[in-house]
Amino acid sequence: MLLEMKHLSLMDGDRLKVKGIIQHDAESFKIELGCGTDDIALHFNPRYDDDADGSVIVCNSKTGGSWGDEVRDTHNPLHRGRVIKLELTLAGDMFEVELPDGQQLQFPNRENVDVINYVRIAGDFKLTSFKIC
Ligand code: GAL
Repeated sequence: MLLEMKHLSLMDGDRLKVKGIIQHDAESFKIELGCGTDDIALHFNPRYDDDADGSVIVCNSKTGGSWGDEVRDTHNPLHRGRVIKLELTLAGDMFEVELPDGQQLQFPNRENVDVINYVRIAGDFKLTSFKIC
């Protein structure tokens, strides 16, 4: 699936709630928050067949079209075939992602963005609900 939203105004403390189903045969999906396709403050990318790590959550940022340094977490509770809920928050100098098992993943707000106006959800994921609160 692909959902792309522009002209949003997500501020510090705002929460993005995403619910959906991970495909049974998923290879990967991604949720991206930023200012546009070339400037992504958070690229949140669960992968299931990664060459190096198999099942892993890869996070990164993209600035002016160039990827930064990847951060990998092999704790991936986002299992294939499951209905999942995720909450993503811009919390000042960090992004926080609440995972379905209660754990929280953090990724630094590397470019210190204070407004997120672009969100993209793509890949082997079927979105059932999306909310900004
Ligand atoms: C690349 C991949 C991109 C993105 C990036 C994150 O290898 O092609 O889609 O996931 O890694 O660092």
